[in-house]
Amino acid sequence: MIRRSVILGTGSYLPDRILTNADLAASVDTTDEWIVERTGIRQRHIAADGELTSDLGVAAARRALAAARLTADDVDLIVVATATPDQTFPSCATVIQHKLGMVRGVAFDVAAVCSGFLYALSVADAMLVTGAANTALVIGAETFSRLLDWSDRGTCVLFGDGAGAVVLRAENAPGTSADRGILASKLHSDGRYNDLLYVDGGPGSTGTVGKLRMKGREVFRHAVTNLASVMTETLAAAGLAATDVAWVVPHQANLRILEGTAKKLGLPIERVIVTVDGHANTSAASVPLALDAAVRDGRIKRGDLLILEAMGGGFTWGAAAVRW
Ligand code: COA
Repeated sequence: MIRRSVILGTGSYLPDRILTNADLAASVDTTDEWIVERTGIRQRHIAADGELTSDLGVAAARRALAAARLTADDVDLIVVATATPDQTFPSCATVIQHKLGMVRGVAFDVAAVCSGFLYALSVADAMLVTGAANTALVIGAETFSRLLDWSDRGTCVLFGDGAGAVVLRAENAPGTSADRGILASKLHSDGRYNDLLYVDGGPGSTGTVGKLRMKGREVFRHAVTNLASVMTETLAAAGLAATDVAWVVPHQANLRILEGTAKKLGLPIERVIVTVDGHANTSAASVPLALDAAVRDGRIKRGDLLILEAMGGGFTWGAAAVRW
């Protein structure tokens, strides 16, 4: 028998305020038609004044704990993926730990921007299978609206705020590709591409938060290639192939990236969970938001093979093969 990290529950949270493409067209030179055609995005959610990344993360975490029929007292590890922590430090994870009323366990953030959830899931999985922890909350939470240059139509239309979470628990399993849980995960990064997607400020350089800057066309080009290759690599590591996949649960940046990646893998778009239309790119929150949507509406069923994937600034990218 080996230890496997099994997802026992999922949860997500989107702020109440919705900003439509038409709302944006009133303030920057864009149209609903352009945004829908080039990205598939129709609306995004924006956190209220005073509503912090940790608040979004706590709301998603509570829903994931309820779905898992566990409480915060059962958790001994919190890993939060975010590029928009409430403060430079302490970590968003320790803030969430405190807001959940936890007084034990280990809590820390990982920074891998839009790939953050895959990084956090992979780190938590490694800690669970080695016995460093038993029950983990893995959270992706972001308020990207606060990093945007609202006068730059090339970026401000693409992002939104939100959070998603999963509860992972170590369980004993035979060690085959039929096991429940995380069967394999693969991560990559390549800092040569730091300047294609970045924030032009930070605590150690300008002393300010900065605004998001992106060369969208170049990011797009790398995304499809990197995502298709890491998905194939991850499935092979699990002894599986694209034909075994029931659902692709992707990072939600652009519908055309989802279509291009699915095509490269030979999978129909019908097997891809698409939520980008409803909440745009929520960075580290987008994979668990999509996962939670498809779990709650019943598309994802026990025994299904899922492939989670994401790519983000750095570049960073990764995938995880999960048996539901
Ligand atoms: N409304 C209207 N026109 C816009 C616009 C907007 N919101 N944003 C850009 N344009 C214009 C550009 O100025 C450009 O005009 P020009 O040809 O006169 O210079 C034209 O549209 C085409 O721009 P381009 O950047 O080539 O478009 P595109 O088809 O590559 O789509 C993105 C742009 C950003 C949607 C696309 O590149 C993308 O999604 N990239 C990846 C982004 C991403 O995934 N980032 C996060 C990864 S985690």
